[in-house]
This record gives sequence, C-alpha cells and structure tokens, in this order.
Amino acid sequence: MSEALVSVSEHSGVVRLTLNRPKALNALNSELLGELERVLDDLAARDDLRAVLITGAGDKSFVAGADIAEMRDKSPDEARDFASQALATFKRLERLPVPVVALVNGFCLGGGCELALACDWAVASDNALFGQPEVLLGVIPGFGGTQRLPRRIGPAMALDLITTGRKIDAQEALRVGLVNRMVPQAELETLAEELTRQLGANGPQAIRAAKQAIHAGQGQHLDSALALETSLFALGFAGPEQREGMSAFLDKRPPDFQR
Ligand code: HXC
Repeated sequence: MSEALVSVSEHSGVVRLTLNRPKALNALNSELLGELERVLDDLAARDDLRAVLITGAGDKSFVAGADIAEMRDKSPDEARDFASQALATFKRLERLPVPVVALVNGFCLGGGCELALACDWAVASDNALFGQPEVLLGVIPGFGGTQRLPRRIGPAMALDLITTGRKIDAQEALRVGLVNRMVPQAELETLAEELTRQLGANGPQAIRAAKQAIHAGQGQHLDSALALETSLFALGFAGPEQREGMSAFLDKRPPDFQR
C-alpha cells in the first residue's frame, strides 16, 4: 500500500497532521488535498477533539506551494476547480471548532503560506521561509492568499509580498505577524509537545468557546460581538468545566478536565 499523503497521530485529543510528499517539498496536489479533506471531515465529527497541529514531512519544507507540475497544463476551468478544491479544504480546516496551529518547519510558499493562513495561528522554526511567489509563475495566489494575507498582516504588506514575490525569513514573518512564535529548528518539536500538552490540558469547552467568540466576533459590530462573548461566557457556567477549573484553583491543585 502506498504511504499516506496525510499522516495522523494523536495525543490527548490533540491531533497532528503531517503532509507527506517530502520529495516534492510537500507541494499540494489534488490527491493530497482530497486526502486532507477526508481527514478533516473525520475530525470535524469528533467531539473529543481538542486541537490540530499541521506540519510538513521532513526538515526542509512545510509546503512549497501548489503542485506546479499538476497545474501547468490546466485550462481555466480546471484551474478554477483546483483552486475551489483547495479553498473548500482550507475552509474545513478553518471551521474546525478547535484551535488549528501551523507548525512551519521550512519552506512555506504560495499555497503553503495560504494553508498556514487558514490555520488559527502559526509557529515557525528559524529556517522557515515565507512568500507568495505566484507572480513569478505568471499567476496570482489562488488558495486564498489575496484575501487572508491582507487580513492577517495588512493590505500594504500583503501587496508588497504578493506583487514582488519576495521571500521573507521567519524573523520578518514574526515581525509582520504572519507567525506568532519562532524557535530554533531543533526546538520546534519541543514547542509542538508543549502546545500539545497545553491545548490537551486546558478546558476543552472553554477553548472551543474562545475560538467561536473570536471567529464569529470578527465579522460583527463590536456591541454584538461583545454580547456574543457574554453569552458564551455565561454558557461556560452551565457545564462541569467551570466548576472543576475554579474548584481546582481554590483547592490549590491542577484542574482535571479529562472527560
Ligand atoms: C511541484 C515542487 C514544488 C512545487 C518544489 N518542488 N516545489 N514540485 N510544485 N510547488 C519539487 C521540485 O520540482 C523538485 O523536484 C523538488 O521539489 C525539490 O525542489 P528543488 O527546487 O530541487 O529544491 P531547492 O533547490 O531547495 O528549492 C526549494 C524551493 C523551490 C525554493 C522551494 O523548489 C521552489 O521555488 N519551489 C516552487 C515554489 C513556488 O513557486 N511555490 C508557489 C507555487 S504556486 P525534482 O523532481 O526536481 O527533485 C502556488 C499557487 C497556489 O502555490 C494557487 C493555485 C490555484
């Protein structure tokens, strides 16, 4: 049997997805996107899911973009279908009710950068390289980059990156807000383990509610977004998690949110 293009491992409800085409620097082709879509559908159905980490196989690349060999001979309709497939897959990722973190371990270019942008946040190793080099190939970003990149780092910086196609290192990605944290390459695994521990130990319903409040609130007027926060905050007092968390604090013991 051929090796999975998306490998799945798990610890305390925190699932790690590894995109596995290292010979092509984990470039996204239709087959990989289809597999990712199926995995995400399975994850979306799980109420014990706590977080998802997504990374690339090998120590050189997160994802070096959409597969150029697959794209070269496409007609406009086929290109539209390919972009639509990726957008639908990334939407599934974005709509998971738990935090989704990109662990960027090297090249994060084109469709790879767009994948990282569909995650809630990203952490990077210091060898990571980011960019939207599509204009060098005679096209524009088609997996959401013209929309999600300006929303994350502002339109001026997004236009700089998209129209020059220049690559930026992890330090600059950190400065412009494309990634939240940067660690030496040898420490990325330790950071992944730490995230797994934290996201697996904190109140699972509270984490879901926080993501829901932030995502849903972004598109709303501040007053309605604050009302949403109040509702979700109050709802937290309806389940066992709030009592366990606060009792644990008062009892001077760590909380146990395991279900
Ligand atoms: C297909 C790719 C690829 C890609 C790398 N490879 N990127 N194959 N699609 N996006 C393949 C190479 O062809 C090569 O295969 C192998 O991976 C190793 O790559 P090298 O180029 O030999 O490695 P290196 O010299 O280290 O250079 C790394 C690199 C370079 C700087 C990342 O590979 C590169 O520039 N890749 C393209 C990056 C890019 O333009 N991405 C955006 C794509 S467009 P062989 O068989 O020769 O060993 C995009 C649009 C999204 O993402 C929207 C579409 C609708």
